[in-house]
Amino acid sequence: MTSPLEFARAERSRFYRELWEFLRIPSVSAKSEHDGDVERTADWVRDQLAGAGLEAQVHATPGHPVVVGEWRGAGADAPTVLIYGHYDVQPPEPLDLWESPPFEPEVRDGRIYARGAADDKGQLFLHLKALEAHLATRGQLPVNVVVLAEGEEEVGSPNLVPFVAEHRERLQADTVVISDSAMFAPGTPSLLFSLRGLAYFEIHAMGPSTDLHSGAYGGAVANPANALAKIVAGLHDETGRIAVSGFYDDVADPPPEVLEGIRRLPFDADEYAREVGTSPAGGEEGYSLLERLWTRPCCDVNGLLSGYTGEGAKTVLPSSAMAKVSFRLVPDQTPERVRELLEAHLERVAPSGVALKVVELHGGRPWRAAVGGPVFDAASRALEQAFGARPVLAGEGGSIPIVVELEELLGAETLLLGFALPGANMHAPNEWFATDCFEKGIETLVRLYDELAGRRAKLG
Ligand code: BES
Ligand code: ZN
Repeated sequence: MTSPLEFARAERSRFYRELWEFLRIPSVSAKSEHDGDVERTADWVRDQLAGAGLEAQVHATPGHPVVVGEWRGAGADAPTVLIYGHYDVQPPEPLDLWESPPFEPEVRDGRIYARGAADDKGQLFLHLKALEAHLATRGQLPVNVVVLAEGEEEVGSPNLVPFVAEHRERLQADTVVISDSAMFAPGTPSLLFSLRGLAYFEIHAMGPSTDLHSGAYGGAVANPANALAKIVAGLHDETGRIAVSGFYDDVADPPPEVLEGIRRLPFDADEYAREVGTSPAGGEEGYSLLERLWTRPCCDVNGLLSGYTGEGAKTVLPSSAMAKVSFRLVPDQTPERVRELLEAHLERVAPSGVALKVVELHGGRPWRAAVGGPVFDAASRALEQAFGARPVLAGEGGSIPIVVELEELLGAETLLLGFALPGANMHAPNEWFATDCFEKGIETLVRLYDELAGRRAKLG
């Protein structure tokens, strides 16, 4: 009889063809012109799940649909695994910086280039194929499975929490498995111990009722762009700490063994500098780069808008200015508290002649794993067998806001197994996913489901 792993190897070229279909649909959740594409992608995921042998449905929400697939043939004594992923992608712009079109996947130098190749279509697809490999060869899975695929992760999952709350009985699971992150380094797989949370705002500065001649009025009328620039500059002090009063009150240090583990990781500073194309000089004094990324909060301007930015000079005193500002959070910070603190801070620093307004875009709480235990061990074994290297415990600076909510609503433990590589250009032009990780990722997940079942069998 063919084994699931042999099946996955034999069917590899079909898997690639199907992945190409998936990547070709421009499921950009942020833009309404793509609503039809997002819906088409949900249908595509449903058809894949159904084709693999799961019972699959597309559920409408006030936003983009949620796809649920279920296979419960392992029986009430077997563990239930909930696989979460997202089929929406970030906008591909700026298009002129892509070497091949974002929705026409292409392999170059062992990498699949396309928007969503890594974040997260390529990684969600690994699970679909691992499930298919089990069901096609053995007619069954060693665990009960629920697949939950959403189309709004890149816009903050506004409809997923209500959906999960409403269907919590049906989505009940022992373990949540998510592949939407990166490995520590090429050849070094990782299990995540943390994700940062997010509090994301627009800060609007409003001055004169219309744009003004910057000579006729400059020096007399307060300039909202000047004011906002000063406010943005004042968000950090000279040691790189965030200068919002009370911001660090809820920051809890990770356990000493986690910090010790971070120190022992073979971090390649030169490779990191090459990846980002500049020397990484951001962040708080007194912390290593990995500590800054994984265990400390940060604050960044994501966009600035004001005045004349076209060709040449236009002398104008703009009537308003806007900055998109994100705070990445660590336990036990919450987006709600950060908003209160930011508003109080802005009230203190607001200059006269300029009104300030804060608009919340989205938020999510930080997550930290209870590291260790049989589920972690099962995942470690699966990763080690597939990659031929022991996984390291790593943190993550990005956010997957639904993780905390899933754990709370379902009472489940989460495994974050990412297969992208550092520098995969998530959210940037030329996003890629290594073909090697694609193939080993499927193998890991085929093995993971067996390992998770074995755990329960061994525990009796
Ligand atoms: N896949 C990412 C999260 C991620 C990024 C994990 C980099 C590991 C490395 C996810 O799709 C994402 O982009 N999340 C957003 C959340 C936001 C849109 C609410 C983020 O972190 O900005
Ligand atoms: Zn993303």
